[in-house]
Amino acid sequence: MSVWAILVAAGRGERLGLDRPKAFAKLGDEPLLAEPLRRLDACPWVDAIVLVAPPGWEEPAILVAEEEGCGKVQACVAGGETRSDSVRAGLAEVPADALVVLVHDAARPLLTDEVVERVLAPLSEGWDGVVPGLPVGDTLKRVGSDGGVHETVTRDALWAVQTPQAFTADVLRRAQASGAEATDCAGLVEAVGGRVKVVDGDPRLLKVTSQADLETVAGWR
Ligand code: CTP
Ligand code: MG
Repeated sequence: MSVWAILVAAGRGERLGLDRPKAFAKLGDEPLLAEPLRRLDACPWVDAIVLVAPPGWEEPAILVAEEEGCGKVQACVAGGETRSDSVRAGLAEVPADALVVLVHDAARPLLTDEVVERVLAPLSEGWDGVVPGLPVGDTLKRVGSDGGVHETVTRDALWAVQTPQAFTADVLRRAQASGAEATDCAGLVEAVGGRVKVVDGDPRLLKVTSQADLETVAGWR
């Protein structure tokens, strides 16, 4: 089974508000991108990696991969305007004979071999996609623009999903080509009728959005 990972790192990081894209924010004394790249490269379940860099930042991204000695990186391409555009650019570099595609956010630096194993395993049981998730703990309310509560949403059976998300390559390609709209890759696969399973995620897969998140993740390393 050949597993290709697409590491999407092409976002601007507007909420972090630095003078550079989020992938090049400092986590400890290295660029954020280095941590997830090193972990994917060392993961025994991953055969090859496509790195999706912010437009104009392909060369610095390749330099990070070289400095980390990441021998599995097969291509580095510029991302697009939206996350889906960036995934599409990465998928274009995945060869036709790849069986499985793993899509991961560089903004979630602390992935583990265990979570990769958890999302890959159900693919051999007939699932088209597998995503890590955490049960929602807080009470959820739908709120109007004036702050008034419209309803309290029951949180039973609600999960917050993370990455890495694993897909059979043909189903992900079909979903991408369908023109469906979704906020994550799994949503695209669901939109074309694919069967998607949720497995246990990991709180340490926190997505770095703010400066405080960067500090939290640095402390967990
Ligand atoms: N991403 C991407 N291409 C985009 C937008 C996002 O590759 N056009 C990637 C980001 O690099 C990140 C992941 O998708 O690894 C999740 O996106 P998010 O956390 O929203 O990152 P940014 O879009 O960079 O941040 P912000 O929304 O604050 O600008
Ligand atoms: Mg974003």
